[in-house]
Amino acid sequence: MKTLTVNLKERRYPIYIGQKLLGQSSLLMNHIRSKQVLVVTNETIAPLYLEKTLSGLTDFQCETVILPDGEQYKTLETTNLIFDALLTHRFDRDCTLVALGGGVIGDITGFAAASYQRGVNFIQIPTTLLAQVDSSVGGKTGVNHALGKNMIGAFHQPQCVLIDIDTLNTLEDQQLSAGLAEVIKYGLISDAEFFSWLESNINALLIRDAERLTYAIEHSCQNKATVVAADEKESGQRALLNLGHTFGHAIESGMGYGRWLHGEAVGTGMLMAANLSHRQGHYSDEDLQRTQALIEAAHLPTTTPPEMNSQRFLDLMSVDKKVKSGIIRLVLLKGIGTSYISGDYDPKLLLATLDEFHHAARL
Ligand code: NAD
Ligand code: GLY
Repeated sequence: MKTLTVNLKERRYPIYIGQKLLGQSSLLMNHIRSKQVLVVTNETIAPLYLEKTLSGLTDFQCETVILPDGEQYKTLETTNLIFDALLTHRFDRDCTLVALGGGVIGDITGFAAASYQRGVNFIQIPTTLLAQVDSSVGGKTGVNHALGKNMIGAFHQPQCVLIDIDTLNTLEDQQLSAGLAEVIKYGLISDAEFFSWLESNINALLIRDAERLTYAIEHSCQNKATVVAADEKESGQRALLNLGHTFGHAIESGMGYGRWLHGEAVGTGMLMAANLSHRQGHYSDEDLQRTQALIEAAHLPTTTPPEMNSQRFLDLMSVDKKVKSGIIRLVLLKGIGTSYISGDYDPKLLLATLDEFHHAARL
């Protein structure tokens, strides 16, 4: 097992990464304050991993909440089911919530932990690649609103993150690819060497080679931990982790939550950001071609849904947490491994990018 550390200003917490970690009680013990533990999961993950998780928590008064599965349930209404359970079982401020699942479960559970009695402890046990490389680390929690993705939430850091790579064996191929979008993101933003490594190893990752997957997860978590340590509340460089997300969130909410996977929308969104960067004259033909090739090789979509025209994109992109004084700020690229955030791009070029993708989608 490997342990990475997320160093925050006020405290630090570990990310445990390895195989056969679920059910190892010694790992979680140190991070639980009182006897009261609530494990939150969903109806798909419960039959696969709940029993094993609970077997590591026999010393506690463990309760469980099993939520419906899907992005469309990442809502305030679903969060209320967690509050119902906490209050029904008289959980106090020293209780611990455990999020067992993908990014949806992690985000909802973290948000419930941030809000219950103004904040209680929680632990992340991510079971999708996307959650293992991104959402479980860094303390962004929240839910969607019909008018905007992740618009209601809080920063609330977990006590620890436990990544059992074996859980990826039951993940559908399409979900594995969605997770690879966030892995590729780290290469594009700031790590050209990692991008090249991904180009050489993408097929091994797709067939779940454990050694390569472990390397990609460790490397991604280390990248994320470094960014979060430097800018926990996103006042600066953390925003770069949103490469492709302003386009991607527009696809997710525009199509209806759950129709496009988050990672798929981010994959296409990153290509749209690369296209705009190329139009701005900052991103070479070769870098654009390599970006498209790696996203395709990861079996991610490279076109937008035909239903989404340019105006629809612009309307939805204007509801984004990076918008300032009405200007849509975007993460753009100056080359593979070099990114920046700016609202100072030519709006005509943004429109040209949106039109190009819409035209290609309708062919
Ligand atoms: P998800 O949570 O919906 O999980 C995907 C699917 O895989 C679900 O059907 C789930 O039940 C199933 N599943 C989970 N683990 C499994 C396993 N081991 N075996 C078989 N099936 C399994 O989706 P996701 O891609 O994990 O997360 C996407 C969410 O994460 C989005 O809501 C996104 O906004 C959020 N997110 C948050 C952050 C953050 O920093 N908080 C970062 C990135 C993404
Ligand atoms: N997933 C983006 C972030 O955590 O900041």
